[in-house]
Amino acid sequence: METEILKVTDKNIGAAAKKAAGILLSGGLVGLPTETVYGLAANAYNVEAVRRIYRVKGRPQDNPLIVHVSDFVMLNDIAQLNARAVELARVFWPGPLTMVLTKKPVIDPAVNCGLPTVAVRMPSHPVALAVIAEADVPLAAPSANLSGRPSTTTAQHVLDDHNGRIPLVLDGGSCEVGVESTVISLVGRHPVILRPGIISLENIRDVFPDAEYSDAVFSEVQSILPAESPGTKYKHYAPRAEVVVVKSTLEQFTEYVSVRAGDGVCAMCFDGEQEDIQIPSVSYGRINDGFSQARRLFTVLRMMDKLGSVRVFVRAPDDTNESMAVFNRLIRASDFQLVEL
Ligand code: TXA
Ligand code: MG
Repeated sequence: METEILKVTDKNIGAAAKKAAGILLSGGLVGLPTETVYGLAANAYNVEAVRRIYRVKGRPQDNPLIVHVSDFVMLNDIAQLNARAVELARVFWPGPLTMVLTKKPVIDPAVNCGLPTVAVRMPSHPVALAVIAEADVPLAAPSANLSGRPSTTTAQHVLDDHNGRIPLVLDGGSCEVGVESTVISLVGRHPVILRPGIISLENIRDVFPDAEYSDAVFSEVQSILPAESPGTKYKHYAPRAEVVVVKSTLEQFTEYVSVRAGDGVCAMCFDGEQEDIQIPSVSYGRINDGFSQARRLFTVLRMMDKLGSVRVFVRAPDDTNESMAVFNRLIRASDFQLVEL
């Protein structure tokens, strides 16, 4: 199968959405941009298409999908709304927030792995919204990367992972956010963040002060209910190289990596630090700026493979506010190899 890359502009957005909707409604998969990362979308009501997502990504069978909607009628069809959900939707939607809610019967177990809940999101990207509205069905869409690999933030990343295996990728340019949506469970007593994103715990607490992180955000192994946040138990976001996250000052980092220099050893640092670092290095954003780090993170992790790196030392970002999303991805990419100096 030839994979078509279709560049989407203001002028052809309607035609592009029609083309994508045609493929989706006949059971095919489409790579499409959202404001967070590129997704690999299927008609959430077509069980065969949903199963195809798992096959094409090589995704573990027990990791449920997010269902994307373009309006509240669609949302009501698939999930049970509660007061907290209505309030968070009012504040943060359309946008990079996914809510875990009690599912409605129309959600097949193939979508949510048979859980009592479904994860739902209304993205803000005009191309994603146009495709959902045109198809007029909710779209199940994980990040488009092959399972375990760094996520996809450009159409080229999607092509790199799936060329010849899906019919169409809509190219909407680089994703503005760069890391996946914040996932928050609203089915318990307190709102619980299962996956940090650019909408931070601090942002959520402005609305609901009792919100908290799930232990799964910090721990390597699933620590609460086995099914509460299934995606957290797999290695994620990883380039082929070994990744080590180093929490230290720039001076300490420089010394640490220079005694570990060697073939294929690289560093990921912040803007303006490259000249201090004795080994080949790439910046992944501005220091203390989670937004800029999030935007570049996956492109730089993928670049590490292109450079043939075998070992990558990464300057640790903060673990507060937006940076927590970046820290969380890096710590998983490193398989929890965190060095504190
Ligand atoms: O930004 C995003 O969320 C992107 C774009 C395409 O929207 N999608 C994305 O999907 O990141 P994915 O499949 O890569 O990550 C979905 C996460 C996984 O960690 C999964 O375990 C969790 O959401 N999830 C899905 N349904 C769930 C549920 N019912 N309960 C708990 N966690 C759930
Ligand atoms: Mg993913």
